[in-house]
Amino acid sequence: MSDYKELSRSVKGSRVLVTGAASGMGRATARVFAAEGATVAVTDFNAEGAEAVAAELRGKGQQATAWALDVADPAAIKRVVGEIATAFGGLDIVINNAGISGISAIDGDGYEDLWERHIAILLTSHPRVIRAALPYLRQSKHPRIVNIASTEALGATATHSTYSAAKAGVTGLTRSLAVELGPEGITVNCICPGPITTAMTDRVSLEHKTIYAKRRTALKRYGDPEEVAHMTLSLCLPAASFLTGAVIPVDGGLMARNA
Ligand code: NAI
Repeated sequence: MSDYKELSRSVKGSRVLVTGAASGMGRATARVFAAEGATVAVTDFNAEGAEAVAAELRGKGQQATAWALDVADPAAIKRVVGEIATAFGGLDIVINNAGISGISAIDGDGYEDLWERHIAILLTSHPRVIRAALPYLRQSKHPRIVNIASTEALGATATHSTYSAAKAGVTGLTRSLAVELGPEGITVNCICPGPITTAMTDRVSLEHKTIYAKRRTALKRYGDPEEVAHMTLSLCLPAASFLTGAVIPVDGGLMARNA
Protein backbone atom coordinates (compact mmCIF):
# COMPACT_ATOMS: atom_id res chain seq x y z
CA MET A 1 0.00 0.00 0.00
CA SER A 2 1.33 3.44 -0.93
CA ASP A 3 1.90 6.08 1.75
CA TYR A 4 1.71 8.81 -0.89
CA LYS A 5 -1.64 10.54 -1.33
CA GLU A 6 -2.29 11.76 -4.88
CA LEU A 7 -3.76 15.27 -4.78
CA SER A 8 -4.96 16.91 -7.96
CA ARG A 9 -3.40 20.11 -9.26
CA SER A 10 -6.09 20.60 -11.86
CA VAL A 11 -9.20 22.78 -11.87
CA LYS A 12 -10.31 21.29 -15.20
CA GLY A 13 -14.09 21.05 -15.23
CA SER A 14 -14.51 23.27 -12.16
CA ARG A 15 -17.27 25.85 -12.35
CA VAL A 16 -15.98 29.27 -11.32
CA LEU A 17 -17.67 32.61 -10.66
CA VAL A 18 -15.44 35.71 -10.77
CA THR A 19 -16.79 39.16 -9.89
CA GLY A 20 -15.30 42.26 -11.49
CA ALA A 21 -13.89 40.14 -14.29
CA ALA A 22 -14.00 42.71 -17.10
CA SER A 23 -10.68 44.26 -16.14
CA GLY A 24 -7.43 43.90 -14.20
CA MET A 25 -7.06 41.04 -11.74
CA GLY A 26 -10.58 39.70 -12.31
CA ARG A 27 -9.97 39.44 -16.05
CA ALA A 28 -6.58 37.81 -15.46
CA THR A 29 -8.25 35.36 -13.07
CA ALA A 30 -10.90 34.47 -15.66
CA ARG A 31 -8.14 33.93 -18.24
CA VAL A 32 -6.01 31.76 -15.94
CA PHE A 33 -8.92 29.52 -14.86
CA ALA A 34 -10.28 29.19 -18.40
CA ALA A 35 -6.81 28.29 -19.71
CA GLU A 36 -6.68 25.53 -17.07
CA GLY A 37 -9.93 24.03 -18.35
CA ALA A 38 -12.39 25.52 -15.86
CA THR A 39 -15.80 26.84 -16.92
CA VAL A 40 -15.84 30.52 -16.01
CA ALA A 41 -18.69 32.93 -15.27
CA VAL A 42 -17.22 36.30 -16.22
CA THR A 43 -19.33 38.73 -14.20
CA ASP A 44 -19.02 42.50 -14.00
CA PHE A 45 -20.93 45.70 -13.53
CA ASN A 46 -19.57 46.54 -17.00
CA ALA A 47 -21.63 44.14 -19.12
CA GLU A 48 -19.85 44.93 -22.39
CA GLY A 49 -16.44 44.44 -20.81
CA ALA A 50 -17.51 41.10 -19.35
CA GLU A 51 -18.85 39.96 -22.72
CA ALA A 52 -15.58 40.98 -24.41
CA VAL A 53 -13.57 38.84 -21.96
CA ALA A 54 -15.92 35.85 -22.33
CA ALA A 55 -15.83 36.17 -26.14
CA GLU A 56 -12.03 36.31 -26.07
CA LEU A 57 -11.89 33.10 -24.04
CA ARG A 58 -14.45 31.29 -26.19
CA GLY A 59 -12.39 32.38 -29.21
CA LYS A 60 -9.54 30.32 -27.74
CA GLY A 61 -11.83 27.31 -27.45
CA GLN A 62 -12.27 27.82 -23.70
CA GLN A 63 -15.45 27.75 -21.60
CA ALA A 64 -16.70 31.18 -20.52
CA THR A 65 -20.01 33.01 -20.29
CA ALA A 66 -20.58 36.65 -19.36
CA TRP A 67 -23.15 37.95 -16.89
CA ALA A 68 -23.89 41.57 -16.03
CA LEU A 69 -23.64 41.76 -12.24
CA ASP A 70 -23.47 44.81 -10.02
CA VAL A 71 -22.26 43.47 -6.67
CA ALA A 72 -23.89 46.44 -4.92
CA ASP A 73 -27.30 45.04 -5.93
CA PRO A 74 -28.40 42.26 -3.55
CA ALA A 75 -31.33 41.13 -5.71
CA ALA A 76 -29.09 40.88 -8.77
CA ILE A 77 -26.57 38.79 -6.82
CA LYS A 78 -29.23 36.23 -5.85
CA ARG A 79 -30.64 36.07 -9.36
CA VAL A 80 -27.33 35.92 -11.25
CA VAL A 81 -25.65 33.40 -8.94
CA GLY A 82 -28.72 31.17 -9.42
CA GLU A 83 -28.61 31.62 -13.18
CA ILE A 84 -24.91 30.75 -13.30
CA ALA A 85 -25.33 27.63 -11.18
CA THR A 86 -28.27 26.52 -13.34
CA ALA A 87 -26.37 27.16 -16.58
CA PHE A 88 -23.23 25.39 -15.34
CA GLY A 89 -25.00 22.60 -13.46
CA GLY A 90 -23.43 23.73 -10.17
CA LEU A 91 -20.72 25.94 -8.76
CA ASP A 92 -17.36 25.00 -7.23
CA ILE A 93 -15.36 28.20 -6.85
CA VAL A 94 -16.26 31.79 -5.97
CA ILE A 95 -13.80 34.65 -6.39
CA ASN A 96 -14.93 37.92 -4.79
CA ASN A 97 -12.78 40.41 -6.66
CA ALA A 98 -14.88 43.38 -7.87
CA GLY A 99 -13.67 46.67 -6.51
CA ILE A 100 -13.40 50.41 -6.76
CA SER A 101 -10.94 52.90 -5.31
CA GLY A 102 -11.35 56.39 -3.92
CA ILE A 103 -9.90 58.58 -1.22
CA SER A 104 -11.19 61.15 1.22
CA ALA A 105 -9.86 62.88 4.30
CA ILE A 106 -11.89 61.96 7.38
CA ASP A 107 -13.41 65.45 7.40
CA GLY A 108 -13.91 65.59 3.61
CA ASP A 109 -17.36 66.48 2.23
CA GLY A 110 -17.77 63.23 0.35
CA TYR A 111 -16.61 60.98 3.20
CA GLU A 112 -19.99 59.52 4.18
CA ASP A 113 -20.88 58.67 0.57
CA LEU A 114 -17.52 57.06 -0.06
CA TRP A 115 -17.82 55.06 3.15
CA GLU A 116 -21.22 53.70 2.05
CA ARG A 117 -19.93 52.83 -1.42
CA HIS A 118 -16.74 51.19 -0.22
CA ILE A 119 -18.46 49.14 2.46
CA ALA A 120 -21.20 48.06 0.02
CA ILE A 121 -18.98 47.16 -2.94
CA LEU A 122 -15.77 46.03 -1.25
CA LEU A 123 -17.18 44.29 1.82
CA THR A 124 -20.93 43.63 2.00
CA SER A 125 -20.93 42.14 -1.50
CA HIS A 126 -18.64 39.31 -0.34
CA PRO A 127 -21.01 37.67 2.15
CA ARG A 128 -23.91 38.30 -0.23
CA VAL A 129 -22.24 36.43 -3.08
CA ILE A 130 -21.12 33.69 -0.69
CA ARG A 131 -24.63 33.30 0.81
CA ALA A 132 -26.13 33.02 -2.69
CA ALA A 133 -23.48 30.49 -3.76
CA LEU A 134 -23.45 28.39 -0.59
CA PRO A 135 -26.17 25.86 -1.53
CA TYR A 136 -24.22 25.06 -4.70
CA LEU A 137 -20.78 25.04 -3.02
CA ARG A 138 -22.19 22.52 -0.55
CA GLN A 139 -22.78 20.14 -3.48
CA SER A 140 -19.22 20.57 -4.81
CA LYS A 141 -16.39 18.06 -4.36
CA HIS A 142 -13.78 20.80 -3.87
CA PRO A 143 -15.57 23.97 -2.78
CA ARG A 144 -13.37 27.05 -2.65
CA ILE A 145 -13.90 30.72 -1.84
CA VAL A 146 -11.24 33.38 -2.43
CA ASN A 147 -11.77 36.96 -1.32
CA ILE A 148 -9.60 39.74 -2.72
CA ALA A 149 -8.64 42.27 -0.03
CA SER A 150 -5.52 44.48 -0.21
CA THR A 151 -2.32 45.29 1.64
CA GLU A 152 -4.39 48.31 2.76
CA ALA A 153 -6.07 45.77 5.08
CA LEU A 154 -2.71 45.04 6.73
CA GLY A 155 -1.10 48.47 6.77
CA ALA A 156 -2.70 51.78 5.96
CA THR A 157 -2.40 55.05 4.07
CA ALA A 158 -3.74 58.46 5.05
CA THR A 159 -7.05 59.35 3.33
CA HIS A 160 -7.73 55.66 2.51
CA SER A 161 -9.70 54.92 5.68
CA THR A 162 -12.95 53.90 3.92
CA TYR A 163 -11.03 51.50 1.65
CA SER A 164 -8.83 50.19 4.49
CA ALA A 165 -11.80 49.58 6.76
CA ALA A 166 -13.64 47.65 4.04
CA LYS A 167 -10.58 45.58 3.13
CA ALA A 168 -9.75 44.82 6.78
CA GLY A 169 -13.37 43.67 7.06
CA VAL A 170 -12.70 41.21 4.25
CA THR A 171 -9.84 39.61 6.22
CA GLY A 172 -12.07 39.23 9.30
CA LEU A 173 -14.89 37.82 7.20
CA THR A 174 -12.49 35.35 5.60
CA ARG A 175 -11.19 34.02 8.92
CA SER A 176 -14.62 33.71 10.48
CA LEU A 177 -16.15 31.95 7.47
CA ALA A 178 -13.13 29.63 7.26
CA VAL A 179 -13.89 28.51 10.81
CA GLU A 180 -17.64 28.33 10.20
CA LEU A 181 -17.53 26.47 6.87
CA GLY A 182 -14.44 24.36 7.59
CA PRO A 183 -16.46 21.45 9.00
CA GLU A 184 -18.16 21.21 5.59
CA GLY A 185 -14.83 21.13 3.74
CA ILE A 186 -15.35 24.58 2.20
CA THR A 187 -12.10 26.54 2.23
CA VAL A 188 -12.13 30.34 2.50
CA ASN A 189 -8.95 32.30 1.88
CA CYS A 190 -8.01 35.86 1.19
CA ILE A 191 -5.39 37.50 -0.98
CA CYS A 192 -3.99 40.93 -0.20
CA PRO A 193 -2.54 42.30 -3.43
CA GLY A 194 0.06 45.02 -3.19
CA PRO A 195 0.58 47.53 -6.01
CA ILE A 196 -0.64 45.92 -9.24
CA THR A 197 -0.76 47.44 -12.72
CA THR A 198 -4.49 47.58 -13.55
CA ALA A 199 -7.08 50.19 -14.52
CA MET A 200 -7.36 50.98 -10.81
CA THR A 201 -3.77 52.19 -10.64
CA ASP A 202 -3.80 53.85 -14.12
CA ARG A 203 -4.11 57.31 -12.62
CA VAL A 204 -0.69 56.89 -10.97
CA SER A 205 2.01 57.99 -13.42
CA LEU A 206 4.70 55.53 -14.43
CA GLU A 207 7.26 57.76 -12.75
CA HIS A 208 5.43 57.66 -9.43
CA LYS A 209 4.83 53.94 -9.72
CA THR A 210 8.53 53.37 -10.21
CA ILE A 211 9.53 55.58 -7.27
CA TYR A 212 6.94 53.97 -4.99
CA ALA A 213 7.81 50.41 -5.98
CA LYS A 214 11.54 50.97 -5.52
CA ARG A 215 11.01 52.53 -2.11
CA ARG A 216 8.41 50.10 -0.76
CA THR A 217 8.64 46.65 -2.37
CA ALA A 218 11.39 44.04 -2.15
CA LEU A 219 11.04 43.21 -5.85
CA LYS A 220 11.26 46.92 -6.80
CA ARG A 221 8.29 46.91 -9.16
CA TYR A 222 4.53 46.84 -9.50
CA GLY A 223 3.01 43.40 -9.96
CA ASP A 224 1.05 42.15 -12.94
CA PRO A 225 -2.56 41.01 -12.54
CA GLU A 226 -1.59 37.49 -13.66
CA GLU A 227 0.75 37.20 -10.68
CA VAL A 228 -2.24 37.56 -8.39
CA ALA A 229 -4.47 35.37 -10.55
CA HIS A 230 -2.04 32.46 -10.31
CA MET A 231 -2.11 32.65 -6.50
CA THR A 232 -5.91 32.63 -6.65
CA LEU A 233 -5.76 29.54 -8.84
CA SER A 234 -3.35 27.85 -6.41
CA LEU A 235 -5.78 28.42 -3.53
CA CYS A 236 -8.54 26.75 -5.56
CA LEU A 237 -6.74 23.54 -6.52
CA PRO A 238 -8.22 20.34 -5.15
CA ALA A 239 -4.73 19.87 -3.64
CA ALA A 240 -5.14 23.08 -1.60
CA SER A 241 -7.44 21.12 0.69
CA PHE A 242 -5.80 21.93 4.05
CA LEU A 243 -5.39 25.67 3.49
CA THR A 244 -8.14 27.83 4.91
CA GLY A 245 -8.48 31.11 6.79
CA ALA A 246 -5.21 32.34 5.26
CA VAL A 247 -4.59 35.99 4.51
CA ILE A 248 -1.86 36.03 1.89
CA PRO A 249 -0.05 39.14 0.68
CA VAL A 250 0.87 39.02 -3.02
CA ASP A 251 2.77 42.25 -2.88
CA GLY A 252 6.35 41.93 -4.08
CA GLY A 253 7.47 41.87 -0.44
CA LEU A 254 5.84 45.18 0.52
CA MET A 255 4.51 43.95 3.86
CA ALA A 256 7.73 42.10 4.68
CA ARG A 257 9.85 45.19 4.23
CA ASN A 258 10.73 47.33 7.22
CA ALA A 259 13.43 49.61 5.83
P1 NAI B 1 -9.87 47.19 -12.09
O1 NAI B 1 -10.44 48.55 -11.99
O2 NAI B 1 -8.96 46.86 -13.20
O3 NAI B 1 -11.04 46.10 -12.07
C1 NAI B 1 -12.12 46.19 -11.20
C2 NAI B 1 -13.34 45.60 -11.87
O4 NAI B 1 -14.42 45.61 -10.92
C3 NAI B 1 -13.80 46.40 -13.10
O5 NAI B 1 -14.02 45.54 -14.20
C4 NAI B 1 -15.09 47.06 -12.65
O6 NAI B 1 -16.04 47.25 -13.69
C5 NAI B 1 -15.56 46.05 -11.61
N1 NAI B 1 -16.53 46.64 -10.69
C6 NAI B 1 -16.48 47.84 -10.05
N2 NAI B 1 -17.59 48.03 -9.34
C7 NAI B 1 -18.35 46.94 -9.52
C8 NAI B 1 -19.63 46.55 -9.04
N3 NAI B 1 -20.35 47.35 -8.24
N4 NAI B 1 -20.10 45.33 -9.41
C9 NAI B 1 -19.39 44.53 -10.22
N5 NAI B 1 -18.20 44.86 -10.73
C10 NAI B 1 -17.69 46.05 -10.37
O7 NAI B 1 -9.16 46.96 -10.67
P2 NAI B 1 -8.23 45.80 -10.08
O8 NAI B 1 -6.99 46.46 -9.64
O9 NAI B 1 -8.17 44.62 -10.96
O10 NAI B 1 -9.07 45.45 -8.77
C11 NAI B 1 -9.52 44.14 -8.44
C12 NAI B 1 -9.57 44.01 -6.94
O11 NAI B 1 -8.25 44.10 -6.39
C13 NAI B 1 -10.37 45.10 -6.22
O12 NAI B 1 -11.12 44.52 -5.17
C14 NAI B 1 -9.30 46.03 -5.67
O13 NAI B 1 -9.77 46.74 -4.55
C15 NAI B 1 -8.21 45.04 -5.34
N6 NAI B 1 -6.87 45.59 -5.22
C16 NAI B 1 -6.25 46.24 -6.26
C17 NAI B 1 -4.93 46.67 -6.12
C18 NAI B 1 -4.16 47.31 -7.24
O14 NAI B 1 -3.05 47.78 -7.00
N7 NAI B 1 -4.65 47.35 -8.46
C19 NAI B 1 -4.21 46.47 -4.87
C20 NAI B 1 -4.94 45.76 -3.85
C21 NAI B 1 -6.22 45.34 -4.04
